[in-house]
Amino acid sequence: PRPILLTRHGESLDNVRGQIGGDSSLSEAGLLYSRKLASFIEKRLASERTASVSVPFVTCNLERNIFIELFVRYLIQIWTSTLQRSILTAHPIIGFPKIQWRALDEINAGICDGMTYDEVKKSKPEEYESRGKDKLRYRYPRGESYLDVIQRLETVIIELERQRAPVVVISHQAVLRALYAYLADRPLEELPNIEIPLHTIIEIQMGVAGVQEKRYKLMD
Ligand code: G3H
Repeated sequence: PRPILLTRHGESLDNVRGQIGGDSSLSEAGLLYSRKLASFIEKRLASERTASVSVPFVTCNLERNIFIELFVRYLIQIWTSTLQRSILTAHPIIGFPKIQWRALDEINAGICDGMTYDEVKKSKPEEYESRGKDKLRYRYPRGESYLDVIQRLETVIIELERQRAPVVVISHQAVLRALYAYLADRPLEELPNIEIPLHTIIEIQMGVAGVQEKRYKLMD
């Protein structure tokens, strides 16, 4: 079985200020995590690299496009969102193709984007309360709900399942809750509160014996 590695971006400047959403860059701690993540991936995936690229060479007599598609499927890939904090976290990782997915962007907080939870509570108490009552279905005005996020992840999940080599997904808390819940088969109602800590890699292996999970906390 090939591993799928999930991680949030390194700590961002918005994380430090407690602001939701935005497109800020990384804090010092976030930058440090990006370097630790790169060396972790280099070591963890070194052995998988040779195994995964050697397989497609036996398929040389296939039509060119099919060959390329197969070849790509056997490459270890780094998937990020299109947001700065995710792209910057992947930056120090070298030697693997990187793909940006809009579908991996953080939940869109609509009119609450850029606010802290305290500000939402004070200036939009009715929104704060509705979200507290049903976090899974609550949709931010002009933004998204967790159910919306799950829906837009469909294409990502299809591609993830087609891949034959390890994939590293560097994304965001809400999106990773949805991906993780799918991969680890967690109930939908539990999904919006699953713990996906910063600076931690969640490794998932899906084999015949079921799903196995390891967590690597690289720093606080
Ligand atoms: O900014 C969005 C957060 O990552 C999502 O967290 O759904 O627990 O508010 P939350």
